[in-house]
Amino acid sequence: MADQINEPLIKLKHVTKRFSEADRERTILDDVTLNMGPGEFTVLLGKSGSGKSTLLNLIGGIDSPSSGDIFVRGQAINQMTDRDRTLFRRNHVGFVFQAFNLIPTLTALENVMLPLELGSTKTGHRERALAMMDRVDIVARAAAFPDHLSGGEQQRVAIARALVSDPLVVLADEPTGNLDSDTGAKVIALLDSLTRQAGKNLVMVTHNGEVATLADRAYTLKDGKFSVLT
Ligand SMILES: Nc1ncnc2c1ncn2[C@@H]1O[C@H](COP(=O)(O)OP(=O)(O)O)[C@@H](O)[C@H]1O
Ligand SMILES: [Mg+2]
Repeated sequence: MADQINEPLIKLKHVTKRFSEADRERTILDDVTLNMGPGEFTVLLGKSGSGKSTLLNLIGGIDSPSSGDIFVRGQAINQMTDRDRTLFRRNHVGFVFQAFNLIPTLTALENVMLPLELGSTKTGHRERALAMMDRVDIVARAAAFPDHLSGGEQQRVAIARALVSDPLVVLADEPTGNLDSDTGAKVIALLDSLTRQAGKNLVMVTHNGEVATLADRAYTLKDGKFSVLT
């Protein structure tokens, strides 16, 4: 499909997500319609349990909506087969998590190489991973295992891993939740500069209301509905 430059890169159309629990169904996202343009930095705020991670999982194709459509780059990811959705996610989506989620038995470099090893290119993985680690200033720790790295260093490795495949969409779920405020601010600045300037979308869930001032758009999620903050 041709690039749809004038189309929003991420488009949620009447998206509803329900979870069944014992004898009842709970509506977590209630008829959500949102557009995110190419290169936009979007912040999602909301209380614990409001459905922020659920929304990221839908955009990233980890979970499917109960109804409605989610378009990423003009493609309805919820209508893809599981196999196609997995491939789409590998090629176009990078995830950054609060708990870093690095594999403890792999070095920092091996963690960053992992998405490339799962992808379709066969060569140059090491060089690409090292180049990405250089951009987030963690290349000096390439041989270290995660448990020898500080929280901020682990998150920089995780950012390199999320970005090494050059994804269009970067989803960050409370990426500074386990960091002190100075380190957290650096991580946010790094994510912002590596995404927005490259025309990628950054969707970040955070408890830090100040981050909203850096974003192009900020929303609050409450009772399954989004309201625009900025
Ligand atoms: N797989 C699931 N099955 C049932 N309930 C779920 C599932 N995933 C999330 N939930 C529920 O949906 C609500 C929203 O969860 P979540 O998106 O993780 O919230 P947040 O990230 O805003 O803290 C919570 O009440 C949670 O318990
Ligand atoms: Mg969450």
